[in-house]
Amino acid sequence: MKIIMLGAPGAGKGTQAKLLADHYGLPHISTGDIFRYNLKMGTELGKKAKTYMDAGALVPDELTVDLVLDRLAKEDCQSGYILDGFPRTMNQARKLSEALGKDGEIDFAVNIEVPDDAIIERMAGRRVCPSCGASYHIVNIPPKKEGICDRCGAALIQRDDDREETVKKRLTVYHDQTQPLIDYYKGLGREIDIDGTRTMEQVFAQITEKLGD
Ligand code: AP5
Ligand code: MG
Repeated sequence: MKIIMLGAPGAGKGTQAKLLADHYGLPHISTGDIFRYNLKMGTELGKKAKTYMDAGALVPDELTVDLVLDRLAKEDCQSGYILDGFPRTMNQARKLSEALGKDGEIDFAVNIEVPDDAIIERMAGRRVCPSCGASYHIVNIPPKKEGICDRCGAALIQRDDDREETVKKRLTVYHDQTQPLIDYYKGLGREIDIDGTRTMEQVFAQITEKLGD
């Protein structure tokens, strides 16, 4: 099963993608995580990507499309994947469709809907694990021990691009460049709408009900 996660920054794509990856036994591929990993490793790609990410802008398609298509060609993706944060522009969506071919199109575009004001509140409270990538919220989804990752015990941090001004810029970019993908996948009959304002468990239940076991 090939799934892409759509939704504004902070809608819960990463949170749900991790749960779905465990549930269906599929790899979770997040372009944001790939860029952040490269930055941590000090690669050229990481350094280039950071300048765009910190400004709340999209990393150019030249640095993004081939990276993802190469990843999807790997052995572990042959029975499917959960793609989180890609595609994010119409050009990326068309390139993905071309690469997959007419009979290999993605099965579901899961569109998690959350209004902008709720997004801003979520981002302010988000804390992430720099070691294993787990994501928490200081009020909604707190770790068992404050500031410490439940999964691996590392100290949690706030993402550089979660400052309020950057979040507002990311939301504008989302509405301009990524929202049109909802209609694109509707046209292909693959899009499903999910109410992302419910609890993490309720959102997960809505998605799996539509995707099936
Ligand atoms: P990326 O890392 O993909 O960021 P994003 O899309 O902005 O989304 P987030 O990761 O911020 O949010 P999310 O939807 O995953 O929400 P989460 O589950 O964490 O991209 C970062 C940057 O990389 C981009 O800005 C861009 O520069 C670049 N980039 C990446 N892909 C690219 C591409 N294809 N092309 C070009 N550039 C690209 O949840 C958010 C918070 O809410 C957490 O605190 C969580 O605990 C909490 N939460 C989750 N679910 C719930 C719930 N149901 N109720 C209450 N709280 C909840
Ligand atoms: Mg994410």
